[in-house]
Amino acid sequence: MPIVNSIAADHDLLTEWRRDIHMHPELGYEEHRTSDLVAERLESWGVEVTRNIAGTGLVGVIRGNGSSGRTIGLRADMDCLPMDEENESPWKSVNPGRMHACGHDGHTTMLLGAAKYLAETRNFDGIVHVIFQPAEEGGAGGLKMVEEGLFDRFPCDEVYGLHNAPMLPAGTIGVVPGPMMAAADRFSLTIQGKGGHAAMPHLSVDPVAIGAQIVTTWQTLVSRTADPVKSAVISTTMFHAGTAFNVIPDTASLDGTVRTFDPDMRDAMEAGMTRIAEAVATAMGGSADFNYERGYPPTVNHERETGFAAAAAAATVGEARVDSTVPPVMGGEDFSYMLLERPGAYIWLGGGVTGNDPGLHHPRYDFNDEVLPVGSSYFANLVEMRLAR
Ligand code: NI
Repeated sequence: MPIVNSIAADHDLLTEWRRDIHMHPELGYEEHRTSDLVAERLESWGVEVTRNIAGTGLVGVIRGNGSSGRTIGLRADMDCLPMDEENESPWKSVNPGRMHACGHDGHTTMLLGAAKYLAETRNFDGIVHVIFQPAEEGGAGGLKMVEEGLFDRFPCDEVYGLHNAPMLPAGTIGVVPGPMMAAADRFSLTIQGKGGHAAMPHLSVDPVAIGAQIVTTWQTLVSRTADPVKSAVISTTMFHAGTAFNVIPDTASLDGTVRTFDPDMRDAMEAGMTRIAEAVATAMGGSADFNYERGYPPTVNHERETGFAAAAAAATVGEARVDSTVPPVMGGEDFSYMLLERPGAYIWLGGGVTGNDPGLHHPRYDFNDEVLPVGSSYFANLVEMRLAR
């Protein structure tokens, strides 16, 4: 079962849909036109559609033949980025300050292509839930759908998603068990000292000295506390204090980011940084106000489902075109919230950058329409393999 024939036959249609969505990009939670378009198409193929989950999100239910009761979820994201497009194609964005620069137009189209095929053929035993989520780009639409009962209302034994990957050759698929993308958190720290004359430090509590101690002690969390075979990065990227060369300031403020792949490591970094900031500041006579803000959790593929995804990928593009060594990426992805709830896997679908073509989030990025049938076929093959009759 390579590229599904009837999906390949729909290539022009898929391309037309993709370019139409590309031309009318919408920001997170504002995907009204896109959501309407997806719902109308699904309904035209006899798919039951439930709308208004996390605002513009929706789910289509495609029932197969047989009575196995097995269920599978397939997910795509629909939102664009707040930026102007610099391409001059006929399908260039008509919405100023809005652009599909991350290929979510392609993701939505590929899942629609798979839904059309699955609804027309129903050559599987079980139920497929096609999940179209809003607001992946920072708005945590995936989390919101989960919070609004996504998996209670539409049970999924397993859940699968994908992202286009311009850095991988077109038509290849990358998938590994474990972390695919990182947790990206941020922190801020305000140190309260006691200001005074730079020549009389005994009358002051120096927040700069306290901050310097904290920055270096935090690094011992990575070097002395963390399991050395797991990764963690703590970067203090801002350190602001003082207004004059001869005045010890009253306060200092620090900001930065923490990247981890392992949930336990993430907990350990947050707890350790809090402990060190407060204890060091107190020990040196000051006090600390530490704030740790969690971004998306790491996107962690489940072992067993990664095997299923890799098998469907190999069936679609051939064993030789499946890369099972792709390194994790430090970016974030809110499909991670779904993988915390249900076993599943997330794959990279190669889009192929040649020469100096721009990558994701670039004002001249554009999804490669050549791979539309590959993504749709991957989803279709995955369903027919996992829900085999
Ligand atoms: Ni994206």
